[in-house]
Amino acid sequence: MTDPGSPTDPDTLRARALDALTTARERTALLTTCVDEPDLTAQHSPLMSPLVWDLAHIGNQEELWLLRAVAGRDAMRPEIDGLYDAFEHPRAERPSLPLLPPDEARRYASEVRGRALDVLESTAFRGTPLTEAGFAFGMIAQHEQQHDETMLITHQLRKGPAALTAPDPAPAPPFTGPAEVLVPGGPFTMGTSAEPWALDNERPAHERLVPPFYLDTTPVTNAAYQAFIEDGGYGDERWWTAEGWDHIRSHSIEAPLYWRREQGQWLRRRFGVTEPVPPNEPVLHVCWYEADAYARWAGRRLPTEAEWEKAARHDPVTGRSTRYPWGDADPTPEHANLGQRHLRPAPAGSYPAGASPLGVRQLIGDVWEWTSSDLEPYPGFTAFPYKEYSEVFFGPEHKVLRGGSFAVDPVACRGTFRNWDYPIRRQIFSGFRTARSGAS
Ligand code: AVJ
Ligand code: FE
Repeated sequence: MTDPGSPTDPDTLRARALDALTTARERTALLTTCVDEPDLTAQHSPLMSPLVWDLAHIGNQEELWLLRAVAGRDAMRPEIDGLYDAFEHPRAERPSLPLLPPDEARRYASEVRGRALDVLESTAFRGTPLTEAGFAFGMIAQHEQQHDETMLITHQLRKGPAALTAPDPAPAPPFTGPAEVLVPGGPFTMGTSAEPWALDNERPAHERLVPPFYLDTTPVTNAAYQAFIEDGGYGDERWWTAEGWDHIRSHSIEAPLYWRREQGQWLRRRFGVTEPVPPNEPVLHVCWYEADAYARWAGRRLPTEAEWEKAARHDPVTGRSTRYPWGDADPTPEHANLGQRHLRPAPAGSYPAGASPLGVRQLIGDVWEWTSSDLEPYPGFTAFPYKEYSEVFFGPEHKVLRGGSFAVDPVACRGTFRNWDYPIRRQIFSGFRTARSGAS
C-alpha cells in the first residue's frame, strides 16, 4: 500500500507553515477590508456569521492551539473565548453577541499572529502529536483558509455592488473529449497516514475495494443542468428522494441559488453583478437533493466518496494512490482553479495538466463535488486534536463533498480532503459530477 505525503524535512515544513499562515492572513485581510464597518458587523444571511465574527474567531482558534496548546501560554482575553466558540452560539445568534468591534478584532488577531510566529520559530517539529511535522501550524493555516472560504460565501450572499473582483479564468471551447471514463474495479488506498497536515477525518490510510464504474470526465455544466430544468425536472417527483421533493416544494426551489429567468434567458447574480448563466461552466450553488435528482433524471447517480477518491488518486498503471489526480506535486495555477485567484469556476474541460491518469478533469478546484456518501469515520479513526472538528458531525445528516472549489486555498485541498454539509445547503460553492456502475 502506498501513501505518499509532502516532504517532511523540518526546515521545509517550517517555511511552508510560515508561507501558509502568511497567505491566509493576506486573504483574510482582503476579505475584511473590502467592505466598510457596517458591512463587517451586519448579518448578510442568517446562514452566516457577520464577517467580524470570522475574523476574531480565526484569531481565537490560533490563540487556543498555537499559543495555549503548543506554547503553554495563558489566555490573552479569557472572557472572549465563549463568544467565538462555534458550538456555544449558532450563526444566527452571533450578531447579537457583544463581539469585538472591527478594529479590536483586527488588533487581537494580529497580536495573536505576532506571538504565533515567535512560537513557530522556537518550536521543534517533533515530540508531541500537535507539534510533529508542524501539524498544529498547518491545521491553523487550514482553519483560517476554511473561514476565508466561508467569508467569500458571505460576500456572495451580500446584496449590493461588488466589493471583490478577480480576473476570469481563461476561456475554453466546449470540451470534446469522452463524456465519461471507466475506472476499473479493484482495491485502492483511501485516506492517508503520511500526509503531515492531513486532518483527523482523512486518516488512516486503508484499503477499499471499489467495483468498476464510469465517472463523468468533467463536472456537470450549466447547459446540461438547464436541460434538466427545461425538461421539467423540478416538477417531476420521480427524480427526487422523498425528503428532497418535500424540501424543494416547500421552499419553491426551481433553479440553482442566485439564478433567475428573464425573458426566456437564465441570469445569475455573482459577487454583486448580474450576468447571463455561462453554458460551459460547471453548475454552482446546487444542494445535494438537486444534484441527486439531476443524476437520476440523467439515468445515472452520484459517485460514492470512495469512487470519487479512487478516480482522483489511484494510478491504474502503478497501482499507487497519489496526493492529487496529476501526481504528488503540490498544486500550481496550471493544475487547478484554487485559492480565490478567480471568483468563478473555469469552463468544463479546463486544466488538462490537472487531469487524472484516466483523463478525468477538474477533480480538484472549481466546484466542490457532492458525493452520495454520508460523513463517516474511516476504520481506525481517532479524533485529533478535538472532537468538534469532525467527530461530532459523523452520521447520516451530513453528505460528503470532495475536491475543493475556486475559493479553497491549496493548503486546505488535496485528494484525501473531506468536506461535508447538510443536503439542503446551496450557498456553498457546490456542484457535482455523475457516475454509473460498470460491468464487473
Ligand atoms: C469542514 C468546512 C465543514 O466550516 O464548518 C471551520 C471547517 N471547522 N472551523 C466548517 C471548520 C471549524 C468546517 N467544514
Ligand atoms: Fe472555525
